[in-house]
Amino acid sequence: MPVKLQLAAQAPLALSSDLLALAVPPGATVKQEPLASLDKALSGGLGKLIAREEFKGQKDQQLEVPAIGGNFSKILLLGTGARGQLANADLRVLSAKAARAANAAKATSLVLGFADGLAPDKVRYAAEGIVLGSYRFDKYLTGERRPKAELKTATLALGAKARLGKSHSAALEAGEGVARAVCLTRDLVNEPPNELYPARLATEAQKMAKTANLRCQVFDRKEIEKRGMKLLIAVGQGSVNEPRFVHLTYTPKKKAKKRLVFVGKGLTFDSGGLCIKTAAGMGEMKSDMSGAANVVGLLAACAVVKPDVEVHGIIASAENMPDGNAYRPGDVFGSLDGKTVEIINTDAEGRLVLADALAYARTLEPDLIVDNATLTGACVVALGKTCSGFYATTDRLAGQYANAAKEAGEQVWRMPLLDDLKDQLKSDIADLKHTGDRWGGSITAALFLREFTGDNDWIHADIAGPALSERATALHPKGATGHGVLTFLRFVEQSGAR
Ligand code: BES
Ligand code: MN
Ligand code: ZN
Repeated sequence: MPVKLQLAAQAPLALSSDLLALAVPPGATVKQEPLASLDKALSGGLGKLIAREEFKGQKDQQLEVPAIGGNFSKILLLGTGARGQLANADLRVLSAKAARAANAAKATSLVLGFADGLAPDKVRYAAEGIVLGSYRFDKYLTGERRPKAELKTATLALGAKARLGKSHSAALEAGEGVARAVCLTRDLVNEPPNELYPARLATEAQKMAKTANLRCQVFDRKEIEKRGMKLLIAVGQGSVNEPRFVHLTYTPKKKAKKRLVFVGKGLTFDSGGLCIKTAAGMGEMKSDMSGAANVVGLLAACAVVKPDVEVHGIIASAENMPDGNAYRPGDVFGSLDGKTVEIINTDAEGRLVLADALAYARTLEPDLIVDNATLTGACVVALGKTCSGFYATTDRLAGQYANAAKEAGEQVWRMPLLDDLKDQLKSDIADLKHTGDRWGGSITAALFLREFTGDNDWIHADIAGPALSERATALHPKGATGHGVLTFLRFVEQSGAR
């Protein structure tokens, strides 16, 4: 059962729970509420503790306080690092910390207190944080390995003076829905590749669409072939698990101001094919469908926040395997676009399935195409494991995208579409080859994709680094992060306002 979120127009200390977390700004003292009551209950002990531990309410400061009476089993002070209203991304992280602490303490109930209340629009980000922070992927754990307790209720205590209205509860619901959409993305990425093959990914997209009341078309191998997506077929032909192509659509009630198309790479497993990868890290390649999972999560989130723009989600899914029918280096294939491509390295499969997906996206006459993919190791070398790289056709778009990422609390960095590297993609016998030399590997991949975008406005995000995390943060445990969904959603919401 997922955690139940609620709001209370009460002082946090008037409630009770397994864990009480209090957001404490810099400069807060035991002379003011809510710390005053807490200090009194501890017979003046809180003031001494705060002084001894030098807790100043800074951003990453936490202080565990001995529990008082019977209302709370555990109390935690979380520094906010800012007076007044917190930035959305910071509020999300702070709330996630409270939820993670609740999981760690085996708490089934959490009260998160904000002494100065929360504006209605801020409630959404607190709700997002709690749901994201309490996320665990435990469906394959049995017996002793199963978590001992599950967080059942989380209450946002906004103070006795708070006037709760419809806008508060709407924001709570929105935040919960958005975060669940990100968790769906994480679930899909964490799912092992023997369970999640292309057909299953398509089924999961359909399931989501049915619950969210969205349109969903799925093309099986025959249909993909019929439509001429020759590159997607080529990548998938070495696997017994046949490729799938998915087209999800969100249409707003009001006339849409814009049509945005999001495209995701959906390699449910990437062995490298005949150019097989080494054993080290191959298991990570179950996450090579993170771009596709982001598309599913984004569309689920759109169904919740209902932006005024039309949003399409396109998934090109295959399994890259090296059987007797696998595609080879030296092969030449046509594509949905019409261009022919000479295969150089079967491990550069992502750009091939995306090429057909981009050509399809073009037929929807979009205002903008955004693709996202765990595309290159080179991008991870350039930017590390916590930041994605993105390419944009105009400075204006790049600015809007970077701004959306900032508000979403995700790290992104713009990469250049360097035209002079294009020579690397010249083939002697076909229109294009799909890889260049070693240097600038993330850029040549982007330049290859650009060949299939026509003259559309276009953003390409390479999420190979941050899609999967080697360590837990406040917002996610080790494993899938859902990096990208919140940025795309913010971008979509802002497009509606523009
Ligand atoms: N899925 C990989 C990229 C990747 C690498 C994702 C590391 C996540 C972590 C992609 O299909 C791939 O294998 N790319 C090759 C391209 C090369 C053969 C031109 C790469 O980056 O090495
Ligand atoms: Mn590969
Ligand atoms: Zn791949």
